[in-house]
Amino acid sequence: TGGVITIDPGYKNTGSCQSGITFLDGEKGVLRYRGYAIEDLAEKADFLEVAYLLIFGELPTKEQLEKFHKDIKKESVVDDDVKKILDAFPKSAHPMGVLASLTNALTAFNPSSVNVDSEEDMYKAIVKILGKFPVLVAWTMRKKQGLPLDYGDSSLGYVENVLKMMFKQPNEAYTLNPIVVNALDKLLILHADHEQNCSTSTVRIVGSSHAGLFASLAAGISALWGPLHGGANQAVLEMLEGIRQDGGDTKKYMAKAKDKSDPFRLMGFGHRVYKNFDPRATIIKKAADEVLGDLGVEDPILDIAKGLESEALEDKYFVDRKLYPNVDFYSGIIYRAMGIPTEMFTVMFALGRLPGWIAQWREMRLRKEPIGRPRQVYIGENHREFKNISNR
Ligand code: SDX
Repeated sequence: TGGVITIDPGYKNTGSCQSGITFLDGEKGVLRYRGYAIEDLAEKADFLEVAYLLIFGELPTKEQLEKFHKDIKKESVVDDDVKKILDAFPKSAHPMGVLASLTNALTAFNPSSVNVDSEEDMYKAIVKILGKFPVLVAWTMRKKQGLPLDYGDSSLGYVENVLKMMFKQPNEAYTLNPIVVNALDKLLILHADHEQNCSTSTVRIVGSSHAGLFASLAAGISALWGPLHGGANQAVLEMLEGIRQDGGDTKKYMAKAKDKSDPFRLMGFGHRVYKNFDPRATIIKKAADEVLGDLGVEDPILDIAKGLESEALEDKYFVDRKLYPNVDFYSGIIYRAMGIPTEMFTVMFALGRLPGWIAQWREMRLRKEPIGRPRQVYIGENHREFKNISNR
């Protein structure tokens, strides 16, 4: 329209949309999904129930939840051709790269995820991806471990079967540990949505061109992978492990984090919106103590994390910048205690965030949002005459 263009790096002060899905109050550390407090949902609901709430806007009745799960189970198989693509990856491939590729491949094998102009077609695509994604998550891990791939046991619950597909060893009985099931269910709920974060904004903008649901999710997976975003949970464990191997000297790393000439940041600290405790970090920190205690796991990394946290909470640099532990600071400690490899941590974040991405994508399509296409302030060269190569 030729109006004034204001630049807002990282969109720190830009609202990209109106949404009724998730509410954050960064000053007060409040997080609600469709109006329900995250503390209530983490304690009283299960992950599939929360997925239904995020996507359709209401807590499901028993019958609605049963039908939702039944529809999802029907889709919990993956085309053999997708399996061939998985087999083509070298063991060294990072699981997030594998997951993004396989999710994109699903689009090629399931065109129905593209033409979703009807609510009915959208529902079909939604249950399809909710059925297939956990299989891809489990198979990505099994592939790295050189273990056989299977579909687990369809009589199990949604989260239970993810664990079975991930951990069942060949020719061994597999018993679900309720501590691990509850811990994973809670972690997935805590990761399920977070308004217009980097990966969700990516899913929305890709979907705004009317690219299919699966292709939009594949883009979100790539955005989540970054260490400033979901990749932080892996970076936190690598940081803590580094501190442990370096003798556990947290003060040295605190100094590095404050030294502007040093690119090192305290991973798992700080947040674009929360200028108070991330309510999810509070719940996860408590869960980490409980899970490690119940599993009888003594992990020196947890003590280092707590040491770093208490130092940062009293340090002027962190206090002045309102840098608190975020969702990624403690989650990896629980995943590690559950036997999940560090490289799989961000994949677990993606599994949790899947319903949120779907909900946000569906809202964007139902609200018929225009294609995302921001402007710029041009700072390049003025018009120049072309020069033939012989004159350059
Ligand atoms: C997630 O957006 C979401 O909701 C994301 C998420 C979700 O659920 O989707 O919550 C999940 O991504 C959590 C964040 C995980 N990332 C990390 O833990 C990486 C470490 N944290 C940061 O890099 C940083 O805090 C961000 C990326 C989280 C936020 O970055 P901002 O909002 O762009 O803030 P900034 O980089 O401008 O920092 C402001 C100041 C700077 O110092 P000054 O220039 O003012 O002197 O704080 C400093 C930064 O240098 N700072 C840090 C720091 N984080 C910010 N200094 C040291 N260590 C840190 N971790």
